[in-house]
Amino acid sequence: MLFEVNKIRQDFPILKTQIYGKNLVYFDNAATTQKPQIVIDSCVNFYQTQNASTHSFHFLSNNLTNQIEEVRLKVKNFVNAKEVREIIFCKGATEGLNLLANGLENQLQKNDEVLITQMEHHANIIPWQILAKKTGAKLKYIKLKPTGELDLLDFEKKLNSRTKILAITHISNVLGLINPLKQIIKKARQNGTLVVVDGTQAAAHLKIDVQNLDVDFYVFSGHKMYAPTGIGVIFGKAKLLENLEIYQTGGEMVDEVDFETATFVDIPNRFEAGTQNFEAIIGFGKSIDYLQDLRQKFNQQIESYEQELLEYATNQMQKIPNLKIYGQNSNSNLSTKIPIISFLIQGIDSLDLAILLDLEGIALRSGSHCAQILLKEFTILPTCRISLTFYNTKEEIDRFIYILTQSISKLQKFS
Ligand SMILES: Cc1ncc(COP(=O)(O)O)c(C=O)c1O
Repeated sequence: MLFEVNKIRQDFPILKTQIYGKNLVYFDNAATTQKPQIVIDSCVNFYQTQNASTHSFHFLSNNLTNQIEEVRLKVKNFVNAKEVREIIFCKGATEGLNLLANGLENQLQKNDEVLITQMEHHANIIPWQILAKKTGAKLKYIKLKPTGELDLLDFEKKLNSRTKILAITHISNVLGLINPLKQIIKKARQNGTLVVVDGTQAAAHLKIDVQNLDVDFYVFSGHKMYAPTGIGVIFGKAKLLENLEIYQTGGEMVDEVDFETATFVDIPNRFEAGTQNFEAIIGFGKSIDYLQDLRQKFNQQIESYEQELLEYATNQMQKIPNLKIYGQNSNSNLSTKIPIISFLIQGIDSLDLAILLDLEGIALRSGSHCAQILLKEFTILPTCRISLTFYNTKEEIDRFIYILTQSISKLQKFS
């Protein structure tokens, strides 16, 4: 079947929206993706016909419990985990990474080391900073090359017998660069280091195979892969999850509660305290169905189309004077990059630019993208970032380039 973007766009009602009377051009997919009708319908349908809480043993409740477990199975297959109990639902990647940093405290002693990279999102920095402070461990950062790529020599230099945890992003949310995870995990494994991967930017673009990666923990958010907000996933190898310290306590995760102590149920529910975001879990299941269906129907065409958008946008942007793109691989090879382009225009404030683009209906991100370490490392100012996906078009890129050029001229007149 041939991939036709205009047909796909019909699945996403918000793409027909006008902003200030202009057609919406949504280029902020790395922040959150839009939702297909099938996901929106499932949220409405949930409250109209299915709403209940789990484990109450009446019809609606039993039905919901079963549905939640069906979604867990879908997620297990989506990431190719070995067992269903290796899938924990959480609020999102941020909560998942906090849960892991908290739960791995028993793995660290004074002067042990936690290794992260300079390209991490704050969600994969601060939990480790706090853990290091609590345990007396040291937090080390793997450097980046001037291109923005991870410096693998620096990684090998910093990996040593004290490195107990490596926490690394699969794809940088600022640079769009895909890290060579397999190679990195292999080295960490040989060193006896636990590996936590932040897969938040990868889940919507790459096929995830946790067994093939041989990763210990893999975390991502549903809302960046067409699902509602408030749902995310922690994959963890069963043996490791069993030894993880508990994070939150309360209902649903206890076995027996006594006056002084309590015992807890087995994984995964042990890490799912309190009432879950049921509507989002069900919607997440639908988003996985949607993505799998697209991948099955169009096979490699989705990936190729996203690469085409990336190359087209990059080429057009490079023609604009004084525009610098951050995150280009050596040899300008775009095949290890997803369609995320962060850029600066010399002498122009990114927020001013974003405001002018917004007035024309173009939604992009400006700022430090929750990656202040990366910006500090390259001593760069807040950037603008466009992030594209399979429902974006070359016509939208053309409009963006046209408005961008006009906006630059306007701002240059004022400066
Ligand atoms: C690479 C990366 N990690 C973690 C997060 C945090 O995700 P969430 O806000 O969904 O928890 C983001 C969000 O932008 C991200 O891009």
